[in-house]
Amino acid sequence: MGWNSWNTFGGSINEQVVRDTADAIVEKGLKDAGYEYVVIDDCWALRKRNAEGRMVADPEKFPSGMKALAEYVHSKGLKFGMYSCAGTRTCAGYPGSFDYEFIDAKTFAEWDVDFLKYDFCYKPALSNGPILYNRMGMALKASGREILFSACNWGSDSVEKWIRSTGAHMYRSTGDINDSFRSFKDIAMSQVDKLAYSGPGCYNDIDMLICGMHGKGNVANGGCSDVEYRTHFALWCLFQSPLMIGGDLSKMDEFNMNLLKNKELIALDQDEEARPPMMVRGGNRPVFFKHLAGNEYALAFFNFDDNDGWSGVEFYDLGLTVASGYGFKFHEIINDENTGLVTENMDVVIPAHDCKIFRGTLELR
Ligand code: GLA
Repeated sequence: MGWNSWNTFGGSINEQVVRDTADAIVEKGLKDAGYEYVVIDDCWALRKRNAEGRMVADPEKFPSGMKALAEYVHSKGLKFGMYSCAGTRTCAGYPGSFDYEFIDAKTFAEWDVDFLKYDFCYKPALSNGPILYNRMGMALKASGREILFSACNWGSDSVEKWIRSTGAHMYRSTGDINDSFRSFKDIAMSQVDKLAYSGPGCYNDIDMLICGMHGKGNVANGGCSDVEYRTHFALWCLFQSPLMIGGDLSKMDEFNMNLLKNKELIALDQDEEARPPMMVRGGNRPVFFKHLAGNEYALAFFNFDDNDGWSGVEFYDLGLTVASGYGFKFHEIINDENTGLVTENMDVVIPAHDCKIFRGTLELR
């Protein structure tokens, strides 16, 4: 859990933004909610390496240098993340780490970096993803510092099948998100069949959050309603994606700030067993059922239609027969309601683009 500069700031990143964001994470209670990493994305470097072949932080954007910035972030009890790329250049054209992996990992370690996002632009044709991510995976380990390795190859080359082998701890599985309902819905649904590859040690990262961006920033595309941002956050939590806030924390409205701190949704995201949800129903009103740690379950209903609509599930489709003698006792997280004991089935009405997320236990009738 953390924050990444790209969605809002793109190339206009600088050390003041990073400091202000670190302050806000603490002051607004996001640190207490679990957010920890403050990550600078692309465009932090000079266009050329120095005479020793090292990357150099742009002194106009980062006059105090990266080590001092890391120290500031650490002084807040947070962790500091940076960005590079497996190819010769980053996606925005800054130096990439191809062939320089061990040197760059050493530089990041010397700057006290705790997290590296590693992109996939400008990859030489004669190389491949498994080799390049493995190289940086080893370089980070050899750097002498514990650095979380966040791979970002947008799902290419069936990344879920090999990325865990490279030492990565999380991996971007889709193209870039933008601030629209369609973007987050399509991204989430594209990963349903691949969530079984995601689990402790290496998680499927369905991209930085757009909650509260309201059509502003680097990935602007019309924006979403608050209900849609809530559906977005609920999907990310149900799918146990890393939660990297992408919005501007100095401008985050109260609804979205509270959403980002929603304890029950975050608990779903952080569930230690990390089992993939079962898709009980597909289409535009998908229904998911998920085993959680500690004998608990989640049952989630989404409505991607533009109209309010009915959804429902027969419990025998979850494997729960009437003869079992059991029913579910649920708490619905979005509307903060308790169901009492429900047996046999559930019918719900879900407003357009909204969701209902039930969490509960099996109880004898
Ligand atoms: C790629 C990544 C984005 C971002 C940009 C930076 O598009 O997928 O998340 O890091 O590069 O240029």
